Amino acid sequence: MKLTLHVWRQKNPGDAGRMVQYEHKSVNPHMSFLEMLDVLNEELIAKGEEPIAFDHDCREGICGMCGFMINGIAHGPERETTVCQLHMRHFKDGDVLYLEPWRARAFPVVKDLVVDRSAFDRIIAAGGFISVVTGSAPDGNTILVPKKNADLAMDAAACIGCGACVAACPNASAALFTGAKISHLGLLPQGQPERNLRVLSMVARVKEELFGSCTNIGECEAVCPKEIKLEVIARMNRDFLRASWTERGDALRSED
Ligand code: SF4
Ligand code: FES
Repeated sequence: MKLTLHVWRQKNPGDAGRMVQYEHKSVNPHMSFLEMLDVLNEELIAKGEEPIAFDHDCREGICGMCGFMINGIAHGPERETTVCQLHMRHFKDGDVLYLEPWRARAFPVVKDLVVDRSAFDRIIAAGGFISVVTGSAPDGNTILVPKKNADLAMDAAACIGCGACVAACPNASAALFTGAKISHLGLLPQGQPERNLRVLSMVARVKEELFGSCTNIGECEAVCPKEIKLEVIARMNRDFLRASWTERGDALRSED
């Protein structure tokens, strides 16, 4: 298979960047998308050119490191698939592909297709955890969890923090990611003591990181490789309202 690739090349965060065209003549349909780029990079290195920088780690769809736009779609045309799990058999000989990094003010470009997603880490650090005394693992049945909640929490915990939801959103909102993190802890008994503080702190951090607001467009859900549902945003908003009212009530009572 032969492909024409137009790839965003940007030397560093301060560089203006530009699209560069490559003719890739040795694409095997069994390759993953990242393996296809590996082969192109080997050719570039052999010619003494700078290889294309892209993020990756597990290449199994579980770590959340990979991700860029392929013809304007986050992670490419296959639904519920990370770009590392996307295979070249889904493309045709002669296809023309445009590869660009995630575009969002909160995700500045580091180099080529690599962006800085540390804003997500700071949102997690603001409250995406539970405070417990560590020690040996407690017995599995010590704290009972209703089956429905366990399933919903597990679904939300599937979020791998890839950032596709932000890249696909016209507002560059981080609502799906943050809603998933707030949901998976808020649905479990262990997450209850810090539930109000968690949602207030994490939502405040999202604003500080300059992500946009959610206007229920749903592009995030459409591109999410882990099928995170919009319901997590509704749950986050409910938790946020309840926590805000509880805090306001506490403030009024303390004035009495
Ligand atoms: S919600 Fe989906 S798209 Fe967004 S960071 Fe998590 S896994 Fe990626
Ligand atoms: S490299 Fe880990 S999810 Fe793609």
